[in-house]
Amino acid sequence: MIATVTLNPAIDKSVTVRGFEMGKTNRGEVTRVDAGGKGINVAKALILWGAPVCALGLLAGSNGRFILDALSAQGIPADFVNVPGETRVNLKIHDAEKGTETELNEPGFRVSAEHLQELRRKIEAQAPQCEVMVFSGSLPPDVPETIFADLIRVAKFHGAKCFLDTAGPGLKLGLAAGPFLIKPNRDEVKDLLKTPLQSRKDLVEAARALITLGSGQVLISLGAEGAIGVAGNDALFAAPPAIKVRSSVGAGDTMVAAMAYSAVEKLPFREAFRMAVAASAATVALEGSKVADLAAVQELLPQVILEDAVG
Ligand SMILES: Nc1ncnc2c1ncn2[C@@H]1O[C@H](COP(=O)(O)OP(=O)(O)OP(=O)(O)O)[C@@H](O)[C@H]1O
Ligand SMILES: [Mg+2]
Repeated sequence: MIATVTLNPAIDKSVTVRGFEMGKTNRGEVTRVDAGGKGINVAKALILWGAPVCALGLLAGSNGRFILDALSAQGIPADFVNVPGETRVNLKIHDAEKGTETELNEPGFRVSAEHLQELRRKIEAQAPQCEVMVFSGSLPPDVPETIFADLIRVAKFHGAKCFLDTAGPGLKLGLAAGPFLIKPNRDEVKDLLKTPLQSRKDLVEAARALITLGSGQVLISLGAEGAIGVAGNDALFAAPPAIKVRSSVGAGDTMVAAMAYSAVEKLPFREAFRMAVAASAATVALEGSKVADLAAVQELLPQVILEDAVG
């Protein structure tokens, strides 16, 4: 089984406004309301691909119940710790006239040490059944930045391969616990290592530095340019197939889901990496937060160009 852990889920609300103006009253139309949060997105992709998955994490209030209902409607088993307060709302304001996208993300609920302890126990209970545990997304305010490192140690002790997809101190400290895989994007790596990342050589060196800091495998995603994948003796660059871009929402999450799927299927790193790039491209070609199904992913597999990153 694969478990996903989301500490700071969100309701993603998309609003369309024509001629959005700062500091004014804007009238818009709600176009979508989705259960969001990175781990939840990963779980959605995995269930669509037929992989056994369970969504774990923290939830609160009526928005939390909305998320649980959405997961249940999609057939995703869930095991969340209910905390006081309310699950945050992330508002995306799409201006159809100017073609801009403005985001307003709430920080999230406050979490007590007792509730974190309860989450730790749930992870301890689930980990023995899990081949992979995916830890992704931001941390709610005041949650110790060592939380991912702590939870990864617990899950690893019970034999789960841990994936970590987060930014900032959560990533830096999480690395020390030795995750199986991390998937930062270029900005997240820059932020962490403070090194220039112009050439492929820079990127491979950065990935190797992240391996030295504790990760087994490193994928650095480069948006439309593709991705760098480094593991063992492989240092690869993948160029994605040319697709018509519809929405890049969840591109990174789909990539992480594909690596988890491939780990359970015991695919070699090259093939897993190829699938990750095909799956994220296929998802970018779909509207909104829709994830590409396996048939669409398979169709793109042969179009991913894999090469040695430093030839
Ligand atoms: N325009 C595109 N065409 C093809 N593939 C794309 C495009 N944009 C993104 N991808 C694929 O999606 C992967 C992940 O995208 P990106 O680097 O934007 O992730 P991210 O910044 O982590 O995104 P997220 O907001 O989901 O966390 C890329 O490595 C690439 O394979
Ligand atoms: Mg990301």
